[in-house]
Amino acid sequence: MSSTTKKKMLERVLSLRRGAQINEDGDEEADESKTKHISLAMRATQYFTRPGTGITVGYLWPSLFITLVVLSLVSLFIHSRDLVCVSSVSSFDLNSRLRFFGLDGLDSDFGSLGVPWCRSKHGKTVEWTSKDLLKGLEDFIPIYETRPIKNNMFGMGFDHSFGLWFMAQWLQPDLMIESGAFKGHSTWVLRQARPDTPIVSLSPRHPEKYLKKGPAYVDGNCTYFAGKDFVDFGSLDWAKLMSKYGITDLSKVLVFFDDHQNELKRLKQALKAGFKHLIFEDNYDTGTGDHYSFRQICDQFYIRGGGHSCFKDSDEARLRSRRRKFWDKAVDIEELCGPGETWWGVKGEMRDDFNHSNKKITYTQHFENSRFVESVLDVYWELPPVAGPSLTHQSRYDPARVTSPIVEDGRFGLFRRLGLSNLDNSVFNGYTQMVYLQISES
Ligand SMILES: C[S@@+](CC[C@H](N)C(=O)[O-])C[C@H]1O[C@@H](n2cnc3c(N)ncnc32)[C@H](O)[C@@H]1O
Repeated sequence: MSSTTKKKMLERVLSLRRGAQINEDGDEEADESKTKHISLAMRATQYFTRPGTGITVGYLWPSLFITLVVLSLVSLFIHSRDLVCVSSVSSFDLNSRLRFFGLDGLDSDFGSLGVPWCRSKHGKTVEWTSKDLLKGLEDFIPIYETRPIKNNMFGMGFDHSFGLWFMAQWLQPDLMIESGAFKGHSTWVLRQARPDTPIVSLSPRHPEKYLKKGPAYVDGNCTYFAGKDFVDFGSLDWAKLMSKYGITDLSKVLVFFDDHQNELKRLKQALKAGFKHLIFEDNYDTGTGDHYSFRQICDQFYIRGGGHSCFKDSDEARLRSRRRKFWDKAVDIEELCGPGETWWGVKGEMRDDFNHSNKKITYTQHFENSRFVESVLDVYWELPPVAGPSLTHQSRYDPARVTSPIVEDGRFGLFRRLGLSNLDNSVFNGYTQMVYLQISES
């Protein structure tokens, strides 16, 4: 069987599984598979129950019994093939991974870990809906195609660029602040969202420095605290700067962090300055990343998905070692746990500054951090991946640890119609659960 045929089969399987959710915007391919599936099942039922077929109630039970035996044998066959396939694949064997989706489902077997999240004070959530996100995607794709920095390795890829653009244009701030500019791609994204809004950008190296070597973006309506003028976010006199910009209502300011600093540290600094709307680009999962993130902070036993086990014979250990074969950033129990069964943060460490400054913390400290974060949170919202991994071919994040993508697996028609299939696969490989927070002092 060719890999294209396999892929088509996979798309069918996935669209069947998610049939109930796919009608909303008319993806013909997915709908077609669903119809075929239903009509086959209906035809079978009708055959067994139709009076004129000769199969009356007297034959119904033996027929059902035979059907059950056949189904069990088929399922046994499928399952044993799956076990062989899973144990023999390399970490980036696309076909095996696709087979893995097809037979196991994307998230069905990972319930004991699930998706971590931070609780907000009053359970408030964002105003935008999945329909708004889909509409936003439609608008953003042609904009993204005009980006000046085509290869933004070490910076944001498509998913987070979309998330930043979407939120900036939805929230309509009067001032946008960015910490961590690199070559200026995120500055460009902010500019696309708000053409006339001033930007303040903080970054040790000025983006103009990159212009000597290749594409970079320097904005005309941006104050740079960069190069020799660099000031860290925690050291800037924000009150003075706000009055310079005539900002009296700090809820009209959007702050975007992509500077790989301890997010708890940044949260405290932002609270002190009085900012309300924050976006963090890299919201790393527990056991991964170079700085302490909100996901890590909130991964707790009382939250669905939190509270991990370092026990080598646990269900979690088995699931993790299995998922690790398919997803680069999925960590197995050895990678998750440091000495003394320390699983929180990264092996019990609170990381900071690109992993250059790390501090061991106790579980009690970690727990207190989560209590503090949740005491100031009005909203916590993780951007979903733009499209499922069978469409984007991404292999980094584990789909079982993230919310459902905007374009779900199996919806190739929609993926193509939106223009996402025209983008290079590499732009989808940087998703790390970008998060939007609304905060206020408790
Ligand atoms: C991942 S890159 C940012 C990518 C960029 N946002 C983009 O979209 O391409 C991280 C940036 O943070 C900068 N950085 C390092 N320490 C920083 C700090 N304390 N404050 C602000 N930026 C910092 C680095 O120099 C680097 O440019």
